Amino acid sequence: MTAVASEGQNVDLAWDLQPIAGKVGVAVRGIDLHGQVDQPHVDAIRRLLADYGVVVFPEQHLGRDDHVRFAEMLGEIKLPPKYMPNLGAEGHEAIAVISTENSVAYTTDRWHADVTWLSNPPKYSILHMEQIPPVGGDTMWASQLEAYDWLSEPMKQLLEGLTAEHALLLKAEMTAQHPVVIVHPITRRKALFVNSAFTQRILELTPLESRAILDLLYQHSVRPEMVCRWRWSEGDLAVWDNHFVQHYAIGDYHPAPRTIHRIEIVGERPVPASS
Ligand code: SIN
Repeated sequence: MTAVASEGQNVDLAWDLQPIAGKVGVAVRGIDLHGQVDQPHVDAIRRLLADYGVVVFPEQHLGRDDHVRFAEMLGEIKLPPKYMPNLGAEGHEAIAVISTENSVAYTTDRWHADVTWLSNPPKYSILHMEQIPPVGGDTMWASQLEAYDWLSEPMKQLLEGLTAEHALLLKAEMTAQHPVVIVHPITRRKALFVNSAFTQRILELTPLESRAILDLLYQHSVRPEMVCRWRWSEGDLAVWDNHFVQHYAIGDYHPAPRTIHRIEIVGERPVPASS
């Protein structure tokens, strides 16, 4: 039995929780995610996401309907961006396909949080592993709560109150401005919110200052101490708290095939730490 505090109360769960690394990520066994999960257990999953950043449910082997149903329990589904291949032709337009077959898998081997060029980036991302390569293709996540905590006090003071522009450079109109330091809605912990894939500049700084500070933060925010790494099996389900972790799909398996299905949940605007 494991007790997880959920919405102010402790829920006794017949779950086996195993942290994946010292500071981020937990693997949860002993729950079957086919079919409906009751509200206290859904709340407990949200709490685990807030505490660990990433929750992996090994070997669930969910069908597409189960994947969608599980996502709906966590919130309102956000349809994939238009450029992303999806299973619409099979009646599942909510499911994006990240595969070597459609080449999208070749774009995820870099540190990023999903879709931060929107003013309300997805809250959660939910991956179901469909096809693994014989070796390699692990995914890493880096806690941006830890990244903030590990900064010096003078650096924290400099960053709080600053704003960064995020953009998808394929499309100039896809831009958003976000606080550089945000606060978690459940734990109230502070986190860094910049990533090298989409953050362009810090608006209040000169171009030279902005470049130097962003480069420092990109290096700092993915230090091994704040990272976990998951070696996939087919049928694994992984969920992450997208405003509070970055992720990186390791591209060490080519030319073997790899396919993963992703559903995202609508997010709120990231909340500035300084408000
Ligand atoms: C993603 O970047 O959303 C996909 C990560 C993965 O394929 O492991």
